[in-house]
Amino acid sequence: MVEKTIRAAITEMREQFKAIGLDTPELDARLLAQGILGLRHEELLLNYNKLITDSECETLTAAARRRVLREPVSRILGTRAFWKSEFKISRETLDPRADSETLIEAALGYLGKAHPLSILDLGTGSGCLLLSLLHELPQATGVGVDISADAIQTAQQNAEDMHLSGRASFAALDWEDMKVDQPFDVVISNPPYIANAEIEKLEPEVRQYDPRLALAGGEDGLDCYRSIAKLLPQLLAKQGKVFLEIGYDQTEAVKGILAAGGFRVLQVVPDLAGHSRCVVAQRISQD
Ligand SMILES: C[S@@+](CC[C@H](N)C(=O)[O-])C[C@H]1O[C@@H](n2cnc3c(N)ncnc32)[C@H](O)[C@@H]1O
Repeated sequence: MVEKTIRAAITEMREQFKAIGLDTPELDARLLAQGILGLRHEELLLNYNKLITDSECETLTAAARRRVLREPVSRILGTRAFWKSEFKISRETLDPRADSETLIEAALGYLGKAHPLSILDLGTGSGCLLLSLLHELPQATGVGVDISADAIQTAQQNAEDMHLSGRASFAALDWEDMKVDQPFDVVISNPPYIANAEIEKLEPEVRQYDPRLALAGGEDGLDCYRSIAKLLPQLLAKQGKVFLEIGYDQTEAVKGILAAGGFRVLQVVPDLAGHSRCVVAQRISQD
């Protein structure tokens, strides 16, 4: 029987994280304690001097060991907050990024709540983009596709958890193989856009734990934009809009790819850091 308070457990984890130079040792330790002990932030503070059980102590020790190996807190806990919901994540889903909320904000600026809309999410991962939009747009329905069957399973689970299964469907396939009877009103995508050679230079949290399939955008990082631009004429309705996440330095290249495919960029929306993050486009000719 160990006699350890929550405070002592957090301090122990924080010191381990500090020793290996993690950026936010205290926050990481608290978040792990909160997630594993099932406490909200204010409950954690109120229970700081409470003793933890042996089994909680073992679970916290194992979690701290994983964090020391640079696994992100969200992967250890298996969930990530995105927009207004908590999303389960799994081995083959990207860990959703706050930057991608720029796409949700941009899309909501263009899409009316009162109309039925169909939305296609290319490379849905955890389903965070599609499901956040469906949560905001009660008349909308949507399809999420991903080449990873594991990601699709996780997205389906998230749809169930959010009570959105009735309006969301998912398919495990390569978007290049998509056949649609009816084009969509909206296409949204956060495709893989890191140049292959850059992946090795990323933080261990990303390069070791995010799936390569979710990161690798080919030699120049632009392969998926080329592929999506080729597919858009069949996938997107004539008056439809496309919302694409981009890397901060990809604006001109993606504009060029879209223009060559017959699409005009309406807006480039920055993220909270001021970097170009979302391209909004529609067909040049809508006849
Ligand atoms: C950057 S992640 C985005 C995931 C999620 N939409 C998000 O924003 O967190 C890109 C996703 O595209 C998927 N993907 C990559 N190539 C694909 C393809 N050819 N067809 C379908 N999905 C693909 C990956 O498996 C990955 O889940």
